[in-house]
Amino acid sequence: MPLKEARVSVLDHGFLYGDGIYETMRVYEGVVFMIGEHIKRLEHSAFHIGLNLPKSPDEIKVSIYETLEANGLKDAYLRLTVSRGEGPIGLDPSLCPRPTYFILAEELKPYPQRFYNDGISAVITKTRRNLKEAINPQIKSLNFLNNILAKVEAIKARADEAIMLNHEGHLAEGTVTNIFFVRAKDGGRAICTPSLDCGILEGITRNVVIELARRLDMRLIEGEFTEEDLHRAQEVFLTSTIMEVMPVGKVDEVKYPVGEVTKLLAAEYKKEVAAYVKETKASGPSIWGYE
Ligand code: PDD
Repeated sequence: MPLKEARVSVLDHGFLYGDGIYETMRVYEGVVFMIGEHIKRLEHSAFHIGLNLPKSPDEIKVSIYETLEANGLKDAYLRLTVSRGEGPIGLDPSLCPRPTYFILAEELKPYPQRFYNDGISAVITKTRRNLKEAINPQIKSLNFLNNILAKVEAIKARADEAIMLNHEGHLAEGTVTNIFFVRAKDGGRAICTPSLDCGILEGITRNVVIELARRLDMRLIEGEFTEEDLHRAQEVFLTSTIMEVMPVGKVDEVKYPVGEVTKLLAAEYKKEVAAYVKETKASGPSIWGYE
């Protein structure tokens, strides 16, 4: 339906309490990259908040592709949201008998090429990432205020992204991105990224990049890192479904070049996407769950 006609009740618990989950997907030439992984993560989020998804994984796939087809979109941004649904005031999820399910699709507005050429800027914020024991970061929830507060700090500092530390002062992640950096190690180089124990979302792009680094026999360390580790890095980059591999040119007052490792992984990521798109197209519409 047209955006103007799409309405959600003021009694929707997604609106009232941030009680709901979502996934952002990127569409390349009509193919939803890593659709299976996104649906798995959605199911995982739903499980953790005790929400029964109103559709099966195959039905979700069909609804995603139907939305794309109805909008005639090829290179697109997709957001699938499932909220607890409409119900009287109160936190009890059983007040909401039917989840609200919608998919928003629009043409992709890619980040400007100069961002990829020069790298974006970031600041490490005072706002810490939510304690993972308070809110499991693997729940991709509608409750985004933690990230929004960090983003507001970044905006005030005129930076493009905010990087949050966890409560122990270890690097966690960006507001909508995972973080990687390259550092000198034993006469060579290592790619470092905070481990999931640091209280971060297991980004789908992060997983692809880790897999690519392994395939390229690059040294990769998932662990606990500090602000100083990041400031001393040779290269820094961020990952997300929409950004892919995004070089960082500056964190706080420290500048970094868009280095070889970042460029190589960005190029390999693009190849991976191209291979995925080709394979999906070759297996035809049946893989999409409808003819
Ligand atoms: N953001 N960390 C956080 C807190 C995120 O919200 C996201 C995703 C990521 C990167 O995950 P992935 O590689 O699976 O996109 C990391 C999406 C783009 C969003 O919020 O719309």
